[in-house]
Amino acid sequence: MRILVIQASPNEDGLTATMAKEAMAGAQAAGAETEFVHLRKLDLKACRACDDGWGRCRSESLCVIEDDLEVVRDKMAVADGIVLSTPVYFGDVAEVVKNSFDRLRRCERAGPADPRVEGKWVLAIAAAGGGGGGGPSCLVAMDRYFAHLGMPIFDMMIVTRRSRDYGIPAARAAGEALVKYVAAQQVT
Ligand SMILES: Cc1cc2nc3c(=O)[nH]c(=O)nc-3n(C[C@H](O)[C@H](O)[C@H](O)COP(=O)(O)O)c2cc1C
Repeated sequence: MRILVIQASPNEDGLTATMAKEAMAGAQAAGAETEFVHLRKLDLKACRACDDGWGRCRSESLCVIEDDLEVVRDKMAVADGIVLSTPVYFGDVAEVVKNSFDRLRRCERAGPADPRVEGKWVLAIAAAGGGGGGGPSCLVAMDRYFAHLGMPIFDMMIVTRRSRDYGIPAARAAGEALVKYVAAQQVT
C-alpha cells in the first residue's frame, strides 16, 4: 500500500503542513509506504488554454508546458491513495493546486484514454484561517477536481486555527483509516 501526501502551503510548518504530516503518520501507523510532496517546491505553471481552448492535452493526453506536472502525475499513478492538504485561499484551493489539477484533469480525461490516476482514493484536507469561511467552497473545488479525475473521495476535512486542537489528531486518524479502507477495497 502506497500513499502519496501532497502539501500545498508555502509554510512548511503551518497548519496545512501539520495536517499533511499527521495524516502521513497515521498512514504509516497502518502499515503504508508514504511519499511526501511539497507542491510549492515543484515548478507548476498555470494552464494556457491553448489554441481554441484545447491543445496537446486533448490530442496526446500531455501538456505543452514543460515543468513538473508529469512528476506529480507519475507519483499519483503509482500510489494507491492520495492525501491532498491545501490552505484555503479566497475560499478555494491554493494556486499551486489549481495550476497542477486544472492541467492534470485535461490530460487525464480529455484526450485519448490515458487515465493514470483514476480510481485512486483521496483524503482531502482544507486548512483555513480563524473562522474557516471559505472552507466549504474549497472542499467543493476539490470535490470537482477529483470527480473530473475519476478519483473517489474517502473523506474531506476542514480544519481552522480554532479547531486545530482536535483537527490535527483527526488527520492522523483519517490517514490511518484511509489505508485500512483502501486495503479492504483491494481485497474485495
Ligand atoms: C491569500 C490568502 C487567502 C486566504 N483566504 C482565506 C479564506 O478565504 N478563508 C479562510 O478561512 N482563510 C483564508 N486564508 C487563511 C489561510 O487559509 C490560513 O492561514 C491557512 O491555515 C494557511 O495557513 P498555513 O500556510 O499555515 O497552513 C487566506 C490566506 C491567504 C494567504
